[in-house]
Amino acid sequence: MSTVSLEDITNLAKRRGFVFQASDIYGGIAGFWDYGPLGVELVNNLKQEWWRAMVREHDNVFGVDGAIIQSPRLWEASGHVAGFTDPLVDCKNCGARLRADHLADTDSTDLSELKELLKDKACPVCGKHTLTEPRKYNMMMKTWVGPVEDESSVAYLRPETAGSIFTNYENVRETMRAKLPFGIAQIGKAFRNEISPRDFIFRVRELEQMEMQYFIKPEMQETAYAQWREFAWNFLVERLGISKENLQWHEHDEKERAHYAAAAHDIYFRFPQGFKELWGTHNRTDFDLSAHQRGSGKDLQYFDDETRQKFTPYVIESSVGVGRMLMAVLANAFAEDELHGEKRLVLKLKPSLAPYKAAVSPLLKNKPELVSRAQEVYAQLKRELGAVMWDDNGNIGKRYRRQDEIGTPLCVTIDFQTLEDGTVTIRDRDTAEQRRVATRELTTDLLT
Ligand code: GAP
Repeated sequence: MSTVSLEDITNLAKRRGFVFQASDIYGGIAGFWDYGPLGVELVNNLKQEWWRAMVREHDNVFGVDGAIIQSPRLWEASGHVAGFTDPLVDCKNCGARLRADHLADTDSTDLSELKELLKDKACPVCGKHTLTEPRKYNMMMKTWVGPVEDESSVAYLRPETAGSIFTNYENVRETMRAKLPFGIAQIGKAFRNEISPRDFIFRVRELEQMEMQYFIKPEMQETAYAQWREFAWNFLVERLGISKENLQWHEHDEKERAHYAAAAHDIYFRFPQGFKELWGTHNRTDFDLSAHQRGSGKDLQYFDDETRQKFTPYVIESSVGVGRMLMAVLANAFAEDELHGEKRLVLKLKPSLAPYKAAVSPLLKNKPELVSRAQEVYAQLKRELGAVMWDDNGNIGKRYRRQDEIGTPLCVTIDFQTLEDGTVTIRDRDTAEQRRVATRELTTDLLT
């Protein structure tokens, strides 16, 4: 069970180079974060694992990588220009802008309900009873395309990656000669002008999503919805090693659902600030393809060879944020225990996710014969395991602590015995047990 605080995660992330505030030297910019050397390795491992499970392991799921800026007509048709909103209240006294649903501590975004809940509320910033009535606020970020900055050149940074999946539905179906059911998957950045970005990388304004739209015959709704809910749960537990006690289901009621969804189930993770949304599965019905048919005038119907009938496919969507997944993985892996009477902090990451699979050290760095043998082992391990770190700083105890904190599963030490019999000491991150193995046994088998 995760009992880690937000401060623990934030401090570790900064101290060890997972996540830095964007524009740190200028005091940061709210809702934007940079990944450091370890963070980018972890992010890449998460994306790779998802791509493998989602695309490579499903013969009927194809990948795309669409542009961040698409025709604004796409977002008009999809309903985002009119409906991609959060409820907002302003304070007339101090000017604070606040998420009305957060202030009312509810999942509902229904304006009349929020009005009722907030009627006696004071502004949490200045304490005055000067809040406006809740209103809808559009979260899409705008820019201009081309040299003229007027209404005709307005474009939006995509608020979800799904948009270009829908517009490529026909391209992919045709080029891959795909038959229903089939999916289109995408990993990429999305932008939301969140009113109150918060909780470290949990709610940000520039995010990355991993999404898949599964195009189906309408009668498959129930089974496909169940299939992709199960996929998300199993991925988190089996592929990322997230403990089941840290996960729970949350079904959206009507007031909570996005404008395109007929049903939505989130997997909530026990984040330091409580159980919150990590991964959504949505039944988007034929909402999007129908909307894009109307908006574009193109026929996006599917012709079923067997029944000889045409219809608009339904869509089941699987959608998860990379940053939230990283935060969940860090919180889940974060552990403090005691070794030989000394407290230690250890990230119990699955080896497949660990930024470095092993750290290689010569026992003494002032003995050239040990250093050169250690460099040979280092080169061998880089070939064998990929991301491996050379670590000859400080004494061996300190190296182990440092590697434990960043989740390195194995520490490999080259000592005088290595020069005699070719064996090295390997030390396991989780058990702290040490044993000697021959250098030829330093393979991926050690990382299971
Ligand atoms: N295409 C569907 C869609 O975008 P969503 O529930 O708005 O649905 C999907 O977002 C996932 O994207 C969420 O479950 C979450 O993991 C991530 N996400 C959404 N907004 C986010 C934000 N402001 N910051 C970080 N992650 C976010």
